[in-house]
Amino acid sequence: MTAATSLLNDLTDAPPAGVWSAPGRVNLIGEHTDYNDGFVLPFAIGQRTHAAVSTRRDGRVRVVSSFDPTPVEAALDELEDLFPARRDEVPEWARYPLGVAWALQRRATSTVSGVDIAIDSEVPVGAGLSSSAAIEGAVAVALDELWALGLTRRELAIAGRLAENEAVGAPTGIMDQTASLRGEADAAIFLDCRTLETEIVPLGFAEAGLEVLVVDTRVSHAHATGGYAERRAACELGARMMDVVALRDLSVLDLRRAAELMDDVTFRRVRHIVTENQRVLDTVRVLREQGPLAIGDLLLASHASMRDDFEISTPELDAAVQAAMTAGAIGARMTGGGFGGAAIALVPHALVPAASEAVRRAFAAAGFREPHLFTVAPSRGAGRD
Ligand code: GLA
Repeated sequence: MTAATSLLNDLTDAPPAGVWSAPGRVNLIGEHTDYNDGFVLPFAIGQRTHAAVSTRRDGRVRVVSSFDPTPVEAALDELEDLFPARRDEVPEWARYPLGVAWALQRRATSTVSGVDIAIDSEVPVGAGLSSSAAIEGAVAVALDELWALGLTRRELAIAGRLAENEAVGAPTGIMDQTASLRGEADAAIFLDCRTLETEIVPLGFAEAGLEVLVVDTRVSHAHATGGYAERRAACELGARMMDVVALRDLSVLDLRRAAELMDDVTFRRVRHIVTENQRVLDTVRVLREQGPLAIGDLLLASHASMRDDFEISTPELDAAVQAAMTAGAIGARMTGGGFGGAAIALVPHALVPAASEAVRRAFAAAGFREPHLFTVAPSRGAGRD
């Protein structure tokens, strides 16, 4: 029995209608470009979040999780009042599943049944691997099936983003939900965040003898507060100053004019987004033409841009990148929203122990908290277990 099923059994006598799961994600490249209508190249990872679900006749929704044993309960027809106005009354973790129920209920054309949802996550929380999108994805595919909504993966991703923006209050983009819902084994998802068109890009890490080493710095971050929203505001300001809908509409050739118009900080935020979009396009091309051993410099340039221009890295993330490179990684960068979370390093299989040891030693020498190190593999997206 899965942990999610036994949590559900503790909550209700009703038999489970099924267990659905969705993975966390690693972003290979393309950071903070999603809410700028730009390009991203994430992949889904093997660590998943499971949701065991049973239906109820009374139109209520209850959620329970391994994060918190106390069930949170609401009437389905109360969710419209709760989100976004009264979201503070809902415990934070429960805003994700209830937010998805709220977003999907809006898409139903007839009355939907109540549900009990039990959630158990293998995706580390606060590590920058999008444990939030994994919850959203698992609940979204479960409710889509149980409520017979027939929505596409793109529509489910949009519902997940709506939950995150309105029910949780985090002004994030659509990358994480897309990666979790649309991931495929051994491949990345090249997503155009303006059109939401995706292309599956084979990564070929295994054939090239490469592993993706994750360094979870255990410096936790939250995107509902602080720096993330500030960066987003700076990007919107930059787009207004350049008179474009989104920074996606600028190319590196526009940067000279941007430098003349903007204060230094806004300019550097804009330069990160514009060059990062180009790096995503370059990475897709290089992967196709030369394979994964040739993308190292692009990963490093992305990290430098986040460190120096976007200023979302931390001393721990910088140390992880540097130590991994010294120990033979072919490329490394922080991944996800920044301000903590994780870095990734692309490491030849035989060098994984040495690279891990080098990172541990660098952290100990700098007096940082001991990091969590593990490898991840590009994996399939959300579905019924
Ligand atoms: C977080 C957000 C994403 C994206 C990344 C940065 O993971 O949820 O939408 O903006 O940060 O690339």
